[in-house]
Amino acid sequence: MKKKLLIITFIFFISAIFYNCTKKITNNTNTIATEMGETNPNGSSELALLMREMDKDSWKIKEAIEKNQTIPDIKEKFAKIHSATATEPEKKDATYTVMADAFLKTVNDMYIPTSKEEKMAAYTIMINNCLNCHKAACPGPIVRIKKLLVNQ
Ligand code: HEC
Repeated sequence: MKKKLLIITFIFFISAIFYNCTKKITNNTNTIATEMGETNPNGSSELALLMREMDKDSWKIKEAIEKNQTIPDIKEKFAKIHSATATEPEKKDATYTVMADAFLKTVNDMYIPTSKEEKMAAYTIMINNCLNCHKAACPGPIVRIKKLLVNQ
């Protein structure tokens, strides 16, 4: 009986670890944080919480560009993807670091252009870099991230 319980606990633990990166996230932006907080049996890692913020911030950036407003300054916040602890710390390997640096460069590049069209182009490159890292490290949220692309 004890052994059975141990096995069940083990299976639960393993599925909790893989949970964040395997499930597709398709729900609405405003409900994502609360819903995921409730359903993730493993709690939320620093990196998972930061990523949810980044998702919300990206919607705000897109809106600001569309409305010709100043892009909110999220550079320092997004740079924390290097230091934030992940659910699976081993995911943050050398590839992750390279992808993260490439991504952060595209974040900074968004603040350079002056025209709306160029800003939108820079934004699209930034989101494509979210996708690049996710294709390599964490495919679950890809469907959700794609919604951040223009006209999709
Ligand atoms: C350098 C790699 C990398 C980049 C760039 C990246 N992500 Fe992530 N993302 C991850 C990893 C790894 C996780 C898993 C985090 C964890 O579970 O600790 C994750 C998790 C997520 C999650 C799920 C969070 C949760 O609640 O479990 C979302 C949503 C997300 N990312 C969106 C984005 C968006 C939007 C961008 C771009 C603005 C982005 N990501 C850029 C690697 C990256």
